[in-house]
Amino acid sequence: MTEIVDLEAYGKDFTTDPYPYYAKLRAQGPVHRVRLPYGQEGWLVVGHRAARAALSDARLNKDWRKTGLQNDAGEESALWTSMLDADPPHHTRLRKLVAKEFTSRRVEALRPRVQQITDELLDAMLAAPEGRADLVEALAFPLPMTVICELLGVPTVDREAFRAWSNEIVAPTGEEAAQQAVVAMSGYLVDLIESKRKAPGDGLLSALIRTSDEDGDQLSRDELIGTAFLLLVAGHETTVSLLANGVRALLQHPAQLAALRADFSLLDNAVEEMLRYDGPVETATWRFTAEPVEIGDTLIPAGETVVIALASASRDHEHFAAADDFDITRDARGHAAFGHGIHFCLGAPLARLEARIALRSLLERCPDLALDTDVDDLIWRTGMLIRGTEHLPVRWGS
Ligand code: HEM
Repeated sequence: MTEIVDLEAYGKDFTTDPYPYYAKLRAQGPVHRVRLPYGQEGWLVVGHRAARAALSDARLNKDWRKTGLQNDAGEESALWTSMLDADPPHHTRLRKLVAKEFTSRRVEALRPRVQQITDELLDAMLAAPEGRADLVEALAFPLPMTVICELLGVPTVDREAFRAWSNEIVAPTGEEAAQQAVVAMSGYLVDLIESKRKAPGDGLLSALIRTSDEDGDQLSRDELIGTAFLLLVAGHETTVSLLANGVRALLQHPAQLAALRADFSLLDNAVEEMLRYDGPVETATWRFTAEPVEIGDTLIPAGETVVIALASASRDHEHFAAADDFDITRDARGHAAFGHGIHFCLGAPLARLEARIALRSLLERCPDLALDTDVDDLIWRTGMLIRGTEHLPVRWGS
């Protein structure tokens, strides 16, 4: 009988700083039977080599329907019909339909608009008379949310309601609340798609609706809803934490901050190090076994959930020297923040563009930027998917 590691019992400590726990598990081996923070049991893969191998292991399915498992969070919802819940050949088809919008060239064309939105948000933030703000509310949330809405052509999305459902789905506070959020989110997207169908525009959502209407074999109605959901959620939840975690790391490491301020040619590398050191996605979305799968020396039976710890891969001492040090000059290539294999993040070029623009503008306009809280008082997002704090109070000026 394999011993179960009870991650749930680690509690708040694990949510606040999971890295020592992952390091300890990594020292014992790459695969562990675990109880997850929501009480379910599964298998956790840790370490750089094992995580990358698992991410590209075709025996691990994303589509749980093949495994006889139930999805707890609203099992038959159209939300779970996107490319992230699909295996080839469905995955290939769904990803191709969206991938053409996310080429580096397409994303680069968004640069002036991303800069403009950033400037406007910083104008509003810096107008605060007391010289302090919550960076999440002022910049880290509205920037990616505005960009992804504009890209999809849905400027009227009801952001506060959308944000609450999205937060609940990616970092659940309870099973019932998560299920209610799934139902509300699906209803919202059905209405949104219907109104776009009546008044089409030139955004990505209208293009996808056209594809679905003209050729339901290419993109079914459910897949359309699932794709809109994935893009809206993946397009902002993660980037919020990249900005908040990244700025927090800089402000906690004054020598690194000074080095960046002195030489902005380090910026691109600094963003990669932020992704490696404290990336927004702690574990990849779940994989499932449809048959017994051997990883390392461990045989995972059929019908099991496999959770791959990206955070552990990016802090593996065997791959990154002094992996727990935040060093914006290191070679951070090979970090696992955007995943690996066929589900590698489609939005990586967009996330990088947004982060580079936001960080540079923020640092240039706030020469005295500082944390306005004790880091021990920060409230962390629940669960193991998204790693980040709810807020990041900062101050500027003396
Ligand atoms: C810093 C920001 C971001 C991070 C750290 C991030 C991370 C990730 C990760 C780890 C995966 C793979 C999940 C898995 O294998 O289970 C993923 C997939 C994906 N991401 Fe991102 N993401 C970010 C921003 C974005 C943005 C801005 C978009 C734009 C819409 C986006 C769209 C997607 C999509 C569509 C997928 C699914 C790809 C597939 O299944 O083939 N992401 N992301």
